[in-house]
Amino acid sequence: EAGMITLDRGYKNTGSCESAITFLDGEKGILRYRGYAIEDLAEKADFLEVAYLLIFGELPNKEQLDKFSADIRDESEVDEEMKKILDGFPKSAHPMGVLSSLTSALIAFNPSSVNVDSEEEMYKAIVKILGKFPVLVAWTLRKKNSLPLNYGDDSLGYVENLHKMMFEKPGKKYNVDQSVIDALDKLLILHADHEQNCSASTVRMVGSSHAGLFASISAGISALWGPLHGGANQAVIEMLEGIKQDGGDTHKFMQKAKDKEDPFRLMGFGHRVYKNFDPRAKIIKKSADEVLGGLGIEDPVLDIAKGLEKEALEDDYFVQRKLYPNVDFYSGIIYRALGIPVEMFTVMFALGRLPGWIAQWREMRLKKEPIGRPRQIYVGANLRDFKPVGER
Ligand code: SDX
Repeated sequence: EAGMITLDRGYKNTGSCESAITFLDGEKGILRYRGYAIEDLAEKADFLEVAYLLIFGELPNKEQLDKFSADIRDESEVDEEMKKILDGFPKSAHPMGVLSSLTSALIAFNPSSVNVDSEEEMYKAIVKILGKFPVLVAWTLRKKNSLPLNYGDDSLGYVENLHKMMFEKPGKKYNVDQSVIDALDKLLILHADHEQNCSASTVRMVGSSHAGLFASISAGISALWGPLHGGANQAVIEMLEGIKQDGGDTHKFMQKAKDKEDPFRLMGFGHRVYKNFDPRAKIIKKSADEVLGGLGIEDPVLDIAKGLEKEALEDDYFVQRKLYPNVDFYSGIIYRALGIPVEMFTVMFALGRLPGWIAQWREMRLKKEPIGRPRQIYVGANLRDFKPVGER
């Protein structure tokens, strides 16, 4: 009966698990992966090292890191038949829908990745998805650009290999500035995990039925797609572009956002946990200046973003609601400077978040968490008798 169940819409005050992976302090703006400060990791580590740390709990030594990257490289082929599935999509398909479908389709070609109960079997499924996901990401972009589907280059690091697969053109020499790879690597680290966010909770929920890692990741991609979650990074650029088209008046835009009748959400602002600032937004904002400066790019949208942030920090409506820029507010400006099209921004978020989803799934499975099945408070009709259609 109702008395027994407490309702907690959006699980704002419900702990779903004990976890040792990521620590957030919303008041102090602290984010740590396995006890390491995000500022340190973003500055000093690389993405594959952070992936290993999140999944297995320790920073790898050289031998462990070499083995991990070799095992991932050995699993970086994607079956040719997968191209037929990709072919079936219209070019207009949103990359997040394509990526979620391809991730689920991978199961058919890797049946051993489903019933994984031992750590060894989990490890094999983990290196498979880490090896194949960058190919799916690259193919999703190349499909949109009508470019031939390609494979990676084993001689390159994880992130450079991804960048090459995404951007190399037939018959053209591929080269990329190291600063671009470094910026991408840092962005992926900053997105790598964030404890029990909507998509990680989705991965845990689906994984709790033992549906397998790939199916859980596919579900996580769908959850991340929403504009209230990872999809916000695309919505932010669309919002900033809109302000630019409209003359760039951020004050006018802010007044509209607070309009009593129908206030609308400032995309890239606000967070369920961070109530002072999102430490990732601080790092990304600084990196945006560095990357655009380094590439000699003047993007007026960056100035509009900074103007919006300044307005929000001085505006009661936003200060009262503790609304500050979050990870999605500045990231799109860097992705754009790196030549990544706006509809691929959330795909880049998914690529960064993949190790976090894997870590959350593995922890849930190793702890043998029960299947997720919340309760409800029933507010529907009481018992009533069936009436044949003629009597309704
Ligand atoms: C991510 O959980 C994670 O960790 C997520 C993430 C991760 O790494 O996984 O950090 C990634 O998803 C970042 C968030 C990206 N989303 C956006 O930028 C979309 C805009 N932001 C919001 O929709 C919102 O702030 C959320 C979803 C991020 C958080 O929402 P909450 O905690 O559920 O807060 P709420 O919706 O209950 O809002 C509280 C109040 C409301 O006003 P009142 O009804 O009390 O008058 O604040 C208002 C909201 O209307 N509000 C906003 C706002 N966000 C909340 N008003 C204007 N603009 C906003 N952005």
